[in-house]
Amino acid sequence: MLDPRESEDVLGLYVHFPWCVKKCPYCDFNSHPLKADTDQAAYLDALIEDWQKQHATLGSQRLLAVPSQQFTSVFFGGGTPSLFEPRHLTHLLAQIPHEGAEVTLEVNPGTAERHSFSEFRSAGINRLSLGAQSFADTQLQQLGRIHRSTETLNAFASAREAGFNNINVDLMWGLPGQTVEAALADLNQAIELQAEHISWYQLTIEAKTEFAKRPPILPKDKILQDIEEAGLERLSQAGYTRYEVSAFAKDPAYCRHNLTYWSFGDYLGIGAGAHGKVTLNGDILRTQRPSQPRLYQKDPEGTPSTTVAADQLVLEFMMNALRLTDGVPQSVFTQRTGIEWEQIQPKWCELVALGLVREDRCATTALGLRYLDSVLEKFLGP
Ligand SMILES: C[S@@+](CC[C@H](N)C(=O)[O-])C[C@H]1O[C@@H](n2cnc3c(N)ncnc32)[C@H](O)[C@@H]1O
Ligand code: SF4
Repeated sequence: MLDPRESEDVLGLYVHFPWCVKKCPYCDFNSHPLKADTDQAAYLDALIEDWQKQHATLGSQRLLAVPSQQFTSVFFGGGTPSLFEPRHLTHLLAQIPHEGAEVTLEVNPGTAERHSFSEFRSAGINRLSLGAQSFADTQLQQLGRIHRSTETLNAFASAREAGFNNINVDLMWGLPGQTVEAALADLNQAIELQAEHISWYQLTIEAKTEFAKRPPILPKDKILQDIEEAGLERLSQAGYTRYEVSAFAKDPAYCRHNLTYWSFGDYLGIGAGAHGKVTLNGDILRTQRPSQPRLYQKDPEGTPSTTVAADQLVLEFMMNALRLTDGVPQSVFTQRTGIEWEQIQPKWCELVALGLVREDRCATTALGLRYLDSVLEKFLGP
């Protein structure tokens, strides 16, 4: 069982790269179309300024709080950070204490030809997350992706050749017109590749996206249910453990960085629109950087950090920890929120009685995971 220990001091660093070759119609991530005059060197300077300031104000205190603390994970996310020149990654990583860390780079397969995977490996990346989405070309076209299935397969093979032995494949399901067979074919391909990790997200229509303006025809509820059921069974048969709602891994390739989020650990966030969460002197501080790359580059710090209000803490913790199929031990709740478990015991007992959560751990039952929103509602008010 995956158990974040109370004593384990995880600390992540998220680095956001805010550009993509082209915006996908379903995506509401902070990403902007890359232009010919986008100045990567200037963005790197802003990232370094951001890192140095956050390190001075939050990071160094947080790092000093635990002797010899290093970042346990670094995650280059986007946008499309595989557009970032490897030498810039090298430069940035050289400033960050991260010995033994998991260092992930998100890769859009349509950009795999720009820089070699060996260069990324030499820069210090040791885990890749490949945005495959689907292996059906007609589907990729509908999703507005810049690549076809062959490019994803080639990217995966090149990554292996370059020595990457920890690769995640992102897939989406519930795609326009998708059948159970088509969804399983996507999973089968990722399984055949022997990806160490598969993220299997249900497509959601996000506000303000192209798909929200012109919604595609999605499969009916019954088909969605069948896809989910068949997909979960297929992944399990193939030896992947579902450890979070949408995350599946072959032991021990669980994503350390995402586990930090889900177990309510601390992380710094640098880059346009990046979020951070740091516990200092018993307070939980949240940081957020300006989303617009231009504004971020002018003033990376943007607005000051805010303290999470005590009445929000329980909900925030549960929104993360209960996504994990095994949740966390109750002691981790107290260690990461500063709140005694006894305080939430009455609400917890009501959920236990409904069969939605477990008595022995801060975790849902299989039923509770299915109706996670109803479980979380319990923690909405005082
Ligand atoms: C930042 S993107 C990954 C890297 C890269 N930008 C790419 O798309 O190849 C993170 C992942 O979130 C998932 N995702 C994005 N928008 C989604 C949506 N509306 N519904 C479900 N999954 C979504 C996709 O699987 C995507 O690969
Ligand atoms: S490439 Fe990734 S981040 Fe960029 S728009 Fe598409 S899904 Fe979003």
